[in-house]
Amino acid sequence: MRETVITADGSPTIRDTATGEHFHSLHGAVSESMKVFVENGFLYMAPRKETISILEMGFGTGLNALLTLVEANRLEKRIHYSAVEKYPLSSKESDAYYNGFAQADMLDFEISALHAAPWGKSNKLSPDFILEKFHADIREVKLSGCYDLVYFDAFSPQVQPELWTTEVFSMIAGLMAEDGVLVTYSSKGIVKQALRSCGFIVERLPGPVGKRHVLRASINRKVV
Ligand SMILES: C[S@@+](CC[C@H](N)C(=O)[O-])C[C@H]1O[C@@H](n2cnc3c(N)ncnc32)[C@H](O)[C@@H]1O
Repeated sequence: MRETVITADGSPTIRDTATGEHFHSLHGAVSESMKVFVENGFLYMAPRKETISILEMGFGTGLNALLTLVEANRLEKRIHYSAVEKYPLSSKESDAYYNGFAQADMLDFEISALHAAPWGKSNKLSPDFILEKFHADIREVKLSGCYDLVYFDAFSPQVQPELWTTEVFSMIAGLMAEDGVLVTYSSKGIVKQALRSCGFIVERLPGPVGKRHVLRASINRKVV
């Protein structure tokens, strides 16, 4: 069971009632997504590339994809967005989520397009935004991209220790461009260690409200 909950910045998140985990920070879902993924990841990569290939671990509500789409339109970037999700939201759950979203009317077309896009297919949402959603476990999915940017947005390492591992990070590293970066909200020691042991150079950055630090990790094969 999953239910929509409003966070401190007024934007909604989802609570997984089985684990008690929320999809975003209760200090602000949009604030967290903007800081951790859009600012530290997409806006960092945008001046470097005209076309950016993004992999998201955990599509969930599609909030990271939506905010990236808005920024990509603003900056006139071309995006190839691949997202992996093991437990997709039902349309009832995503409708309930976006009912609580302040910009839902303004972004109605984009929200519907992200959610209506069929799984396992390449979907051209606009001339400059291609979305591929994979209904799969990140540990089993067959991906063939060469990603510039990875949004690593699994549930926390306490709840899903099996995903914050050298096995998963090295599989992802193998799919990344030589100057690619991975961004994530957890700056726990075990996460940094696992990333470093796969060849990532890990940078600790100031986090959104309620979180001191978050991470950006460069694969940087030119240096390693
Ligand atoms: C912290 S939530 C983030 C969701 C999303 N990025 C958002 O903004 O709504 C983690 C997501 O990872 C998904 N997930 C959990 N285990 C997974 C796995 N093994 N493979 C792929 N996705 C998984 C969950 O269903 C959930 O949607």
